[in-house]
Amino acid sequence: MFSLTLTMFPVNPFYDIISFMDANIVRQKFLDFQVARGHKIISPAPLVLEGDPTTLFTGSGMQPLLPYLLGKKHPDGTRLCDSQPSMRLQDIEDVGDPRHTTVFEMLGNWSLGDYFKEEQIRSFFEFLTKEVGLDASRIYVTCFIGNEKYGIPRDNEAAEIWQRVFKEAGIDARIAEIGSAANGDKRGIKPGERIFFYDDHENWWSRGGGCETTPIGDPCGPDSEVFYDFGEDKQDIEKYGLAHPASDGARFMEIGNQVFMQYRRNADGTFSELEQKNVDFGAGLERITAASIDSFDVFKISLMKPIIDKLEEISGKSYDNNTDEMRVISDHIRGAYLLAAQGLVPSNKTQGYAMRRLLRRAILRALDLGISDNFLAEIVPIVAQNYTDLPDSILTHREMALEVMLREENAFRKTLNKGLKELHRMASFSRSSNHDKDPILTGQDLFKLQDTYGFPFELSVEECYREGIKLTDNYRQEFDKALAEQRERSQTASKGMFKGGLEDHGEQTIKYHTATHLLLAALQKLISPDIVQKGSNTTAERLRFDFNLDHKMTDEEKNAVEKQVNEWIEADLPVVYDEYDKEYAKNTLKAHGQFWDKYPEKLKVYTIGDFKNPISREVCGGPHVEHTGVIGKFCIKKEESSSAGVRRIKAVLE
Ligand code: ALA
Repeated sequence: MFSLTLTMFPVNPFYDIISFMDANIVRQKFLDFQVARGHKIISPAPLVLEGDPTTLFTGSGMQPLLPYLLGKKHPDGTRLCDSQPSMRLQDIEDVGDPRHTTVFEMLGNWSLGDYFKEEQIRSFFEFLTKEVGLDASRIYVTCFIGNEKYGIPRDNEAAEIWQRVFKEAGIDARIAEIGSAANGDKRGIKPGERIFFYDDHENWWSRGGGCETTPIGDPCGPDSEVFYDFGEDKQDIEKYGLAHPASDGARFMEIGNQVFMQYRRNADGTFSELEQKNVDFGAGLERITAASIDSFDVFKISLMKPIIDKLEEISGKSYDNNTDEMRVISDHIRGAYLLAAQGLVPSNKTQGYAMRRLLRRAILRALDLGISDNFLAEIVPIVAQNYTDLPDSILTHREMALEVMLREENAFRKTLNKGLKELHRMASFSRSSNHDKDPILTGQDLFKLQDTYGFPFELSVEECYREGIKLTDNYRQEFDKALAEQRERSQTASKGMFKGGLEDHGEQTIKYHTATHLLLAALQKLISPDIVQKGSNTTAERLRFDFNLDHKMTDEEKNAVEKQVNEWIEADLPVVYDEYDKEYAKNTLKAHGQFWDKYPEKLKVYTIGDFKNPISREVCGGPHVEHTGVIGKFCIKKEESSSAGVRRIKAVLE
């Protein structure tokens, strides 16, 4: 597949020769290595998850193994390994840098209460240095500094093992305290330092991130990450600060993570030790392969380079000058292909929407390269060729994938062309009515483009930005308002059609919606701060709300919750919303949200009560009442079991 042709761009003439330790070879070496150590290869799980409202896609190799990490016996024993296709849409905005991808393969090995830190650290080091051939002197590692609040000790054990392992390789490894990554950006690293202690944002692993955000009931633990050094000159210090293993920037790349899963999060937020001490190891196949060819850029490996070559050929442009675009396009098409080959089709809901988003983003970035004709037919077969090694049990719909993707490309191009034409027509109309000054488009204009022409809001904003078309200062608010008004209109219309006579249909549903937010806040305040929404259904007649709780609510509890909600209604609290960056909404505003993985980068947050010290703050599309006084009297009608560990409340407004 990889020829020795010289391209028109200045590259290392030996590039094609040195660059291929093929990813397929690295994958095979890893699995062989683990089998020789007594591991059984398990089949990877499908990428597309069904029936789990919190997670759309398999995002790590451990996900399918959760019950076994918590103590259930695995039929294949206590030593397992695989290569798991994984998708992390939360990284979508980072794609474009040298190492982030939404889709990747995670090489994994697990000890289910079998070996622990010493064997794991030694064997991974051996794999990297002996099998992959990495230079030991370019390997740096990190360990967990401990967490006082939760009484979790510093992982000196892992650090000391590392020190011994490096010493045996002739390397004197000094230990350094970094703490937060921000501190590291200022401090950098000192000569001889090789083992670094960081806080739980870097060196604690759970499906939810650090200690605070570890999901209740999940296994978790300190981790020790391994990095490869691509040289001081790769670090853009002005942009990213001084280099240290966990810094952003291109000097260090994480090539493996060893999680010592020895804790579990309790319902009261504390952590207790698991009886079974596990190892959960994961490494990006793409990244290890990149390190193996000494490339800090994962897009140069065998799974990616043929796609980039094709993009260069189709566009007549070079990767060196169009790096970002080509990375995004190749990543997204790879992701969409894997989804299509598992039988997913684009749609406007959950996983299907994610797939549509990947494809549309790829098509749009291709426009930036001047590729305005259909091009997927040329790219997808290359991607498919890369994945011939993945089992058919995962890629169940390989033969349909291309067709599904081409159909979406055709449909989107039609939409795009119409929408773009209309946007430019609006802009030139504005220019002529504005005496040939800068054209200005409003949020209402963008709403019309979306509502009538199916041309998405974000694309309009991007196009205006690209073409220098000005937008009004409040375009976002104007757009939201037009959207809310349209929703109100359609609710009223359906009321007219189906519920003649019930004048307040739309309004009533909105009241129930706000009451649902108050109910969750009351449950969290009075019953347990760990309560989260597990499901919600709101009609004009009642609300239905599902949440996690391990017992039937007592009459006292129900009365207290009802009373609390009614007090907040009587206090006539303001209900306000604004749009925020996801990261800000989650970490600074601490908004309640259930689907952080699935949310877009910009989202709406509703706050009830005082903004600084709110009663309720939730990620939510709305709409809601403007103040709680209009809701009416809240009355719980029923509290019952919905499924294991999940309770359901039905309530009405009187
Ligand atoms: N589960 C660990 C991770 O995803 C290995 O990084």
